[in-house]
Amino acid sequence: MSTPDRYAVFGQPVSHSLSPRIHRQFAEQTQQRLTYEAIEVAPEQFASTVAEFFASGGCGLNITVPHKLSAFALAGRLSARAQRAGAINTLTTEAGGRVLIGENTDGAGLVRDLLFNLKATIQGQRVLILGAGGATRGILGPLLDLKPAELCIANRSPERAYVLTHLFADLGPVRAATLAELAGSHWDLILNATSASLSGEVPQLSAALLSPGCLCYDLAYGTGPTAFMRWAGSHGAARTASGLGMLIEQAAEAFQIWRGVRPDTAPVRALLMQELHES
Ligand code: ATR
Repeated sequence: MSTPDRYAVFGQPVSHSLSPRIHRQFAEQTQQRLTYEAIEVAPEQFASTVAEFFASGGCGLNITVPHKLSAFALAGRLSARAQRAGAINTLTTEAGGRVLIGENTDGAGLVRDLLFNLKATIQGQRVLILGAGGATRGILGPLLDLKPAELCIANRSPERAYVLTHLFADLGPVRAATLAELAGSHWDLILNATSASLSGEVPQLSAALLSPGCLCYDLAYGTGPTAFMRWAGSHGAARTASGLGMLIEQAAEAFQIWRGVRPDTAPVRALLMQELHES
């Protein structure tokens, strides 16, 4: 029997990654013969390790922190959404491994989690994004495609938020504000795309920003609710969610690109939510 197709996620650190478990479950469910590993790669070795992986027959890679921008620079061809985001999380090849194709499935993963799993509405809603880093870049295009009434980016360092509004202004009603300038506004959906949760911090926010029915979504996830979810829950948010659903949905998008078959994310989501004590 031939050797199974090889996939991996490259990151640093990466040992905590849930991607191998998610993709192995997708593979089992869809009866695809493949292997998927988490491989720790230092930034200075990134380009050579990607080249070796594909030269030795590797079929696809997921790319995580801190390599999403380097991977963007390496790709010979980019999907439209990767081009817009300026960062990629999925690599595949064409022409027998000679052309590297970069894709960004983060935004599509978030949108799928919001619309299908959480039954949220974006169209006509007021959406606030906290943070203006790589995570925000990845989700802006797919969110604006859903025609929110307004999308505001608030960042601790306001100039980064202004840069993003200029890059995405042609897609819809996007504006930037400082956290102080948000006073008096109300939001139906607040997305925490800062890296504050990773250190257990919460951006300086007023509870008055939450509309009745507000969904507070943290792109980060952990064991149990994140600091932002706990803050939101105790300040009147109707609903809170972590980025675990987004992680699983972006993986499903990548799996479909690689294998041409869409896995069912529901059982994987139920299992991991139970393990992380989120349900
Ligand atoms: P990522 O790729 O995860 O988005 P990043 O590009 O380093 O990472 O961006 C991190 C984001 O989290 C930035 O918007 C950062 O704000 P600054 O641009 O002002 O640095 C934001 N951030 C990190 N820690 C924060 C905190 N404690 N409070 C508020 N914002 C924070």
